[in-house]
Amino acid sequence: MPKLLFIGDIVGRPGREIVAERVPKLRMDMGLDFVIANAENSAAGAGITGLIARSLLESGIDAITLGDHVWDQRGWETEISHFERVCRPANLPESCPGRDHVFVEAGGRRLAVFTVLGRQYLGMKAECPFRCADRMLERLGPLADTIVVEVHAEATSEKQALGWHLDGRVAAILGTHTHVPTADAAVLPRGSAFICDVGMTGPYASVLGREVKPVVERFFDGMPRRFEVATGDVRLSGALVILGPDGKRAEGIELVTVR
Ligand SMILES: [Fe+2]
Ligand SMILES: [Fe+2]
Repeated sequence: MPKLLFIGDIVGRPGREIVAERVPKLRMDMGLDFVIANAENSAAGAGITGLIARSLLESGIDAITLGDHVWDQRGWETEISHFERVCRPANLPESCPGRDHVFVEAGGRRLAVFTVLGRQYLGMKAECPFRCADRMLERLGPLADTIVVEVHAEATSEKQALGWHLDGRVAAILGTHTHVPTADAAVLPRGSAFICDVGMTGPYASVLGREVKPVVERFFDGMPRRFEVATGDVRLSGALVILGPDGKRAEGIELVTVR
């Protein structure tokens, strides 16, 4: 059965290093056909650069997705369109640069992945993720064997609602953004794999990947501070999805943690 590993938000250098170190071997050991990663925090915890995108793709990631931090690095908005295997959230305004989906081919199969941003507690100019996903499925359905939807959202309710809305129409609906892996991985009744959050890839001795002290202090006084990327307890976190024989739906999903 074809296998997909979807790696959660890569945070800073620690996240990039564990990806470069472990992904090539994971591909072999786990027999992975597709590896996708969200890299919205890969450049010092905020955004991505062309250099980083290139090196992640070279370390065995087939497709890179992004979230609300998509435009955090200056210059990326002019670079993104040069990358065929990088997409920005699909429900951003049409005028935004970059692709709204990526195709990956393996073993004669074609997988399409796209991201939708949630709208609860996320201040992006994003259209309705439900309507956007419906429209993307109409467009990509005839062009891909397998469709994977990343739900980059804050609220678990919004992620679950999107999961149920898309169940049976895609192979997987996988949550990102909150950086904390959740214990709800399951195949929904109509055959789509679902998890609220696949977790982040980076330092877990942290607050969402950042050094603990300045974050705690900011909760006391609300004053701005630099939140450097932390360094301790680095893990790679993601969801392993076992696809069905035709790739349209999933047979299984489990959380993967590599320390
Ligand atoms: Fe993130
Ligand atoms: Fe995010």
